[in-house]
Amino acid sequence: MIHIGHGRDPARPTLVPREEMTVRLIHEGKVKRVFSDPESDERLIVEFTDAITAGDGAKREVLKGKGEVACETTEFLFSYLEGKGIATHLIRRLEGTKLLCKKVSIFPIECVCRNVAAGSFARRYGLETGRPLSRPLVEFFLKDDELHDPMITMDAIVRLGMATQEELEFMRRVTLDVNYYLSELFRQVGLRLVDFKLEFGRTENGEILVADEISGDTMRVWDENRSSLDKDLFREDEGDVVQAYKRLLERIREANPEQVPIREETLLVHVMPKSGIKNPPGEVARKALVRLGYDEIVDVRMGKVFEIKVNTPVSPRLLARVEEMNRRLLANPIAENTRVRLE
Ligand code: TMP
Repeated sequence: MIHIGHGRDPARPTLVPREEMTVRLIHEGKVKRVFSDPESDERLIVEFTDAITAGDGAKREVLKGKGEVACETTEFLFSYLEGKGIATHLIRRLEGTKLLCKKVSIFPIECVCRNVAAGSFARRYGLETGRPLSRPLVEFFLKDDELHDPMITMDAIVRLGMATQEELEFMRRVTLDVNYYLSELFRQVGLRLVDFKLEFGRTENGEILVADEISGDTMRVWDENRSSLDKDLFREDEGDVVQAYKRLLERIREANPEQVPIREETLLVHVMPKSGIKNPPGEVARKALVRLGYDEIVDVRMGKVFEIKVNTPVSPRLLARVEEMNRRLLANPIAENTRVRLE
């Protein structure tokens, strides 16, 4: 039985006496444990253990202090991202190795972002490690150790019902936003973000949040000498991992988050007449096209696209505001359908 004390919401009376408050183990992963929060059904406690694994669990060790530094790094980076407007599941750090988080159900997908060829990408395409990519790349992997986390396409994720197209586009865009904000922060202190992995979760009311962790366990980061400050040291038996994770955190802490400029984002709002509703402009275009000899045309419907630039990363709050813009101004909800594209 584990007792965890943390700040209680003073507005909410606690019905269970403190000594009877227990936390239940909800999930045990390879390196983290997830417990219920006795004070709220909407929260979870995530504990970082000292275990470290590679090769989908084939290689495993316990390294004293790893859980604490991974937890601290995650707290630092999630707080930084929140400060830039990216929504994460972090509420706050409780103690050494525990984070209090919003309860989400995790998508069974790993979103990997790469700036430089390394790891499985370099192996898959026979590339030299360190070759820069012309633009950041997002790849999806299925979270399944037995299958060795195979790569999965967006279409397969949608067809298998693991996420909707809209949810995936959202996760992809947020992954790119996270890449920008982390890369710029690290660059200030001479570090290079090679690649990283994110997981996302959905709250009960459908909000999608960055979840799990961001630490030396889930990133590749090189210093100015191309030395790794991440789990590659463990994968390749090349040095003291915990020391490297500590150095990584120390260096990132020296950066100034305020000097990382907010990046403009573009959203496309497509507004289309609902099927079955008359669309005179489309009909005019159809007749004119047929008159010009394009007699294969059966139907033309004309809608509109708004290209909207915003000075904040993509987040559930932003999507809710765009929804509101649609209702209030951009579309007529009776006659038109809208769709937000995050291409
Ligand atoms: P990869 O090159 O092995 O595909 O890994 C890409 C990045 O994602 C790297 O920074 C490590 C991270 N990653 C995880 O955190 N967990 C995983 O299960 C995998 C496969 C990768």
